[in-house]
Amino acid sequence: MCGIVGITSTKNVSSSILNSLRKLEYRGYDSAGIATLENGIIKEVKCEGRVDALETNLAKQNLDGNVGIGHVRWATHGVPSTVNAHPHSSDRVSVVHNGIIENSTLLKKLLIKKGYIFKSQTDTEVIVHLISDYLKKNDLKNAIIKMLKRLHGSFALGIIFQDQPDLLIGARRGSPLAVGYGPNENYLGSDSYALKSMTNKVTYLDDSEFCIIKNDNVEFFDEAGKKINKKILELSKDDKEYEKGDYKHFMAKEIDEQPMTIKNCVNEYIDKISNSINIYNFPWKKNDLKSILLIGCGTAYHSCLMAKYWFEQMTNLDVNVDVASEFRYRKNKFKKDCLYIFVSQSGETADTYAALDLCNKNKVKTCSIVNVVESSIARDSKFVLPIHCGPEVGVASTKAFLGQMLVLYILCLKLAKDRKEIDKKILSSKIKSLLDLSKNVKKTLLTEDQIQLVCKSFADAKGSMFLGRGFSYPIALEGALKLKELVYVHAEGYPAGEMKHGPLALIENGMPVVVLAPRDEYFKKTISNMQEVIARGAKVLLITNKSKDEVVHENIWQSIKVENTIDDLLPFLITVPLQKLAYHSALNKGYDIDKPRNLAKSVTVE
Ligand code: G6P
Repeated sequence: MCGIVGITSTKNVSSSILNSLRKLEYRGYDSAGIATLENGIIKEVKCEGRVDALETNLAKQNLDGNVGIGHVRWATHGVPSTVNAHPHSSDRVSVVHNGIIENSTLLKKLLIKKGYIFKSQTDTEVIVHLISDYLKKNDLKNAIIKMLKRLHGSFALGIIFQDQPDLLIGARRGSPLAVGYGPNENYLGSDSYALKSMTNKVTYLDDSEFCIIKNDNVEFFDEAGKKINKKILELSKDDKEYEKGDYKHFMAKEIDEQPMTIKNCVNEYIDKISNSINIYNFPWKKNDLKSILLIGCGTAYHSCLMAKYWFEQMTNLDVNVDVASEFRYRKNKFKKDCLYIFVSQSGETADTYAALDLCNKNKVKTCSIVNVVESSIARDSKFVLPIHCGPEVGVASTKAFLGQMLVLYILCLKLAKDRKEIDKKILSSKIKSLLDLSKNVKKTLLTEDQIQLVCKSFADAKGSMFLGRGFSYPIALEGALKLKELVYVHAEGYPAGEMKHGPLALIENGMPVVVLAPRDEYFKKTISNMQEVIARGAKVLLITNKSKDEVVHENIWQSIKVENTIDDLLPFLITVPLQKLAYHSALNKGYDIDKPRNLAKSVTVE
């Protein structure tokens, strides 16, 4: 949430900062800004809206200088506006900030009493004035240490100073931050994605650390000011994957990439020759585990819910699922024989990270399933299973969802096998079906034409419902979430059997309802529930799988048939038309598909 970039160089930095901000726009896009130090004076250019608007402003007002910071914002304190856009500056310092300063109201009162004048409604401005105040009686390093001591909350900061022509400060507590190394220049970024166009050599700051970055040298400290040594890591060079290619939107590309990402993931975790699962270094023995708790946010939470069905079906483990923002504040009973699994595409979601941190502090077993392997969640989990999807740029998660489900499914097979809770032949046939999953997803992508016929009805309706039972229930939730995220209409995912206990009252003539009824053990029951909504006037889009027997109901509005596979894997296939439904409905409305309003890809505030 929000993106930070900073550069200190021997050259002019504003255009490189602008380029990095473009990459960071997925983190927030309601306002943007850059500040540089130009001949001993801090200068800012800011705007409400996107980086394109910032570029227009920069063209009108040149911003020179060899040290600078930039920011894209997702508003927390104060409306999106030019005045609230970062950087925030005084004559002496300029600050960009991700996260929330929880005690900003109190600090603001104290600083106002001291005569400081606030221009914006943000919490960030207190940092500007605190540093300026401490600089009156302290050297730069001590001013930073004292300022950090006063802040409560979680944050990442980038700071430049009026009297330091080649120096940049980075500080992290909670929100991620990385340093990059270049020739005669060094960088600061809220993630490695921001730095990738400039360098593949990075160091991640850990919690409660800060750094002093100069053109030829970077020093790291803990918050008490003690110097620390940090490793420089080398990132893979996969920039091509960040391009849209011939696609209009990243989301469309990412949906269509799913056959390939499934193939990569299956290749990684399944040994095709021995038909076995390649998770060798799993650190716990079969008797170590009695239960599993799966934790995530948004789409990742839905993949956790999905996994509950598989784990319960194939193992004797007790399985629970929790939303990270709830888990972190409950009075949990931490169990030594429970495996806590954290699912996160970005690996940086603040609530999921805080839940992991809580588990680590309580010394329980932690495992993460992430897409970004250099992320905080991956680094701080005892065991990591990457989903191998490649970068996901569209804010609404698609290929990462299938990747998360896939890794969870494979982990489930592994535990079932190790615990001798699955028959060898059944295991082997499930693995065989996994090998066909990529091909089946590819064929299911061909349902796109049919989806285009129905999307206008969903885009124009005041609301819609997504119904499913069993394996299809988490997918119904995900389908409704996709529509809400992209089309800004109310959509509700519901267990089909629960409709009669309330939501049936919402059904009225012409209301579009998606019924997910693949031919699994829940099929007949779901079809009965479908009849109940049709009887009350709903326009039903039935999503099922191909079969010789037709689902005969004269009042079904439209049906879409996905490929055939084993029941466990049908959720992967029925997800695909729902992703396309949200995409085409948003396209129909002309909305910004990759950057839906009010949302951000990586939510690093709680
Ligand atoms: C944000 C994104 C969602 C995502 C959720 C969790 O809300 O917009 O698409 O599902 O965060 O993100 P994570 O990176 O932890 O999977």
